[in-house]
Amino acid sequence: MQKLTAAITGVGGYVPEFRLTNKILETMVDTTDEWIKTRTGVEERRILKGEGLGSSDMAVEAVKELCTKKGIDPADIDCLICATVTPDMVFPATGNIICDKAGMTNAFSFDIGAACSGFLYALTTGAAFIESGRYKKVIVVGVDKMSSIIDYSDRATCIIFGDGAGAVLLEPTEESNGVLDSLLRSDGSGRQFLHIKAGGSVKPSSLETVLAKEHYVYQEGQAVFKFAVKGMADVSYELMKRNNLTAEDIAWLVPHQANLRIIDATANRMNLPKEKVMINIQKYGNTTAATIPLCLWEWEKKLHKADNIVLAAFGGGFTWGATLVKWAYDSK
Ligand code: UT7
Repeated sequence: MQKLTAAITGVGGYVPEFRLTNKILETMVDTTDEWIKTRTGVEERRILKGEGLGSSDMAVEAVKELCTKKGIDPADIDCLICATVTPDMVFPATGNIICDKAGMTNAFSFDIGAACSGFLYALTTGAAFIESGRYKKVIVVGVDKMSSIIDYSDRATCIIFGDGAGAVLLEPTEESNGVLDSLLRSDGSGRQFLHIKAGGSVKPSSLETVLAKEHYVYQEGQAVFKFAVKGMADVSYELMKRNNLTAEDIAWLVPHQANLRIIDATANRMNLPKEKVMINIQKYGNTTAATIPLCLWEWEKKLHKADNIVLAAFGGGFTWGATLVKWAYDSK
């Protein structure tokens, strides 16, 4: 029997309406539009407003758009994998809630928490389910409501992050298109530089943890930056090498959108010109697990069947990785 590959056969996305611009941030913390743009590349980010709305609500919008575009009944989905660090609740899994809200009544679902690399981890897992031959339709969604864990009086973090969701459908193909290779890495010793101090089993929530602002993202930006530049560039280059690809063979780099300088370093290491790099950090900031599928969503019409694209990420954990996808369709 011919080997099955997991093809990405559709993309959906969602960003909330409210735009938190650098100008607005200038009125909230001691910063400037100029500093944010030159140090990160971000000009504005989207924020989910509204009482009682969480990550699942954005993911549902992305998944519904995907199912409508593909003309498929949500009940036909076998499995949904949700990458997020901002679940609706500690448990149940946000994937379960998305399936309930979107009518995926026959799917099993679970969450993957690998921070900014979450989408690559989930995509690789979903692809393995398809390759096994056991499942025919797997949705992988990357979603984060970062505004729920950001301290808007901390200028070191509030300028970077935003909210959003992106989803892809994986289906089996006997053509050689789809998720072809993945190099994933993690190093938990990096947790000291990027984490949330309280609310987990080590330090459960209490009045003290709330007063000490320990439920917000803690990041030592410079340290993370150093690891990110090396990690994302190294793994992308290694993936190219082990698949015998040169810069000419690659149609697009789809980088995690954490900082324009990290993206540039990765593209340089791969010898890729800027025209081959998907960049939307200026509009959405860092949406953590959603950055890569949001790029695919935005660039879908420019992608062609058989295009080689390299997805690359680095984030909390530390986690990092790169995935090679041969695009499976031409958009209509
Ligand atoms: O996606 C998850 C993984 N995360 C990342 O990949 C993030 C990696 N890190 C970064 O992107 C960058 O480190 C940041 C954007 C977070 C910060 O940029 P930086 O160039 O590393 O700045 P820095 O932290 O070294 O700070 C430089 C200066 C400091 O002032 P002094 O000590 O030189 O006087 C900061 O206090 O800039 C100051 N600063 C700011 N100034 C204006 C820090 N944040 C701001 C700000 N506005 N928002």
